Amino acid sequence: MRFELFNALTAALGLVWTTDAAKILMGNDDGFGSGNIREFYRLLKEAGHDVIIVAPVINQSGQGGRSDFSTSANLTGPSQYNIVPAGSPAVGSDPNDSHIWYYNGTPAACTFVALDYVLPRYFPDWNAAPDLFVAGPNYGTNAGPFVYTLAGTLGATYSAISRSIPGIAFSASNTAVSYADIKNTSNPATWAAQVSFNIVEAFLNATGEEQEVLPLGYGVNVNIPPLTSSEMPEVVKTRLTGDAETDVAVYNATSKTFTWGNVEPKAAGVNACINGDCKLPGETYVVKGGKVSLSVFTIDYDAPEMAYTEDVFAKVDSLTEESKGNGTETYRKRRAVPAGKLLYGRDNTA
Ligand SMILES: *[C@@H]1O[C@H](CO)[C@@H](O)[C@H](O)[C@H]1NC(C)=O
Ligand SMILES: *[C@@H]1O[C@H](CO)[C@@H](O)[C@H](O)[C@H]1NC(C)=O
Ligand SMILES: *[C@@H]1O[C@H](CO)[C@@H](O)[C@H](O)[C@H]1NC(C)=O
Ligand SMILES: *[C@@H]1O[C@H](CO)[C@@H](O)[C@H](O)[C@H]1NC(C)=O
Ligand SMILES: *[C@@H]1O[C@H](CO)[C@@H](O)[C@H](O)[C@H]1NC(C)=O
Ligand SMILES: *[C@@H]1O[C@H](CO)[C@@H](O)[C@H](O)[C@H]1NC(C)=O
Ligand SMILES: *[C@@H]1O[C@H](CO)[C@@H](O)[C@H](O)[C@H]1NC(C)=O
Repeated sequence: MRFELFNALTAALGLVWTTDAAKILMGNDDGFGSGNIREFYRLLKEAGHDVIIVAPVINQSGQGGRSDFSTSANLTGPSQYNIVPAGSPAVGSDPNDSHIWYYNGTPAACTFVALDYVLPRYFPDWNAAPDLFVAGPNYGTNAGPFVYTLAGTLGATYSAISRSIPGIAFSASNTAVSYADIKNTSNPATWAAQVSFNIVEAFLNATGEEQEVLPLGYGVNVNIPPLTSSEMPEVVKTRLTGDAETDVAVYNATSKTFTWGNVEPKAAGVNACINGDCKLPGETYVVKGGKVSLSVFTIDYDAPEMAYTEDVFAKVDSLTEESKGNGTETYRKRRAVPAGKLLYGRDNTA
């Protein structure tokens, strides 16, 4: 992917400068003051990319894809780490950096506010069409299909993918740290950011001119093990299923309340390999082994066309239109998207 930056003067002189700068929109669920996202942002900017953060004003961990917007125009309390005080607008930027924005909503809502408010109003040259969306790195790994649904880091990412923007979710194993407490480049937040940065660079480097970073509807989930140095760990191609965890409700008879635990032995349902390459190791297993996992997913959650799926559909044959007629007139299998309905131009090029 070559992003050509035309400088008026050089263009006038008949020269063209070509750079590899990409427009990268960032989000997370830990909040816009997270040391992890700020370090990742710094590295991407230092590499010459055009980068904007729109992230929750406070910690919004565990929200998944829930898109919850602020009901009040102003913040009723101070932001994370008191970066902005109570009474500030519900959407705004860091007083020290006009490219770092917060919004008082869930991670998915932040993605939508970024695309439909922040970018169009304040960065019109972006055309509301980032080349790439990246989230995190999250504090704590997000591995397996169950966690995929509940992680705000993933929710922000698959929301971007739903809007035709290639998305990569990064999750690390370090504990929370404020950006203000990062005093050097030899700490776990910087190391996690460096691993994330290297992976983004690999994707950008390998993306040709006129090509999108990922096919339409595709996303990538990266999990980073605990790091003790700046050395880049091995990256392993993985799948979401395989040694993945799901929850068990643990009852406390004294308090009469529940907490969650990981079900043991691991459940077959969350580990059924239906899509993708079943020979790949599960990301949960790989990260536990100290390596970086990299899984490719799509947001087409439909079951694949196969015997099992046909069996399931066959059970409702008595109810469906198709059984009453030939079906071809009542609906079309792949409906054409009406021209102009989609905001961004990627949808016919997947
Ligand atoms: C903004 O920058 C100033 C000067 O570097 C610093 O004192 C202040 O803490 C920063 N404020 C925020 C919210 O980061
Ligand atoms: C809300 O924010 C706006 C803009 O900063 C400000 O003018 C207004 O006074 C604030 N309202 C409240 C109730 O804090
Ligand atoms: C946000 O909350 C989650 C879950 O409690 C926690 O793991 C994470 O460290 C928190 N993030 C911050 C920035 O405090
Ligand atoms: C870097 O900062 C971390 C705290 O974030 C500290 O533990 C470490 O000792 C510092 N390292 C150097 C080389 O200053
Ligand atoms: C990406 O390309 C740059 C410039 O050629 C190079 O310095 C860097 O090592 C590459 N990174 C990866 C991860 O391939
Ligand atoms: C169960 O609840 C009681 C009362 O709140 C608490 O003291 C106890 O630690 C809990 N047990 C476990 C295993 O969490
Ligand atoms: C499908 O059924 C409709 C009537 O329901 C009929 O007009 C049409 O010719 C049929 N098409 C085929 C291909 O059988």
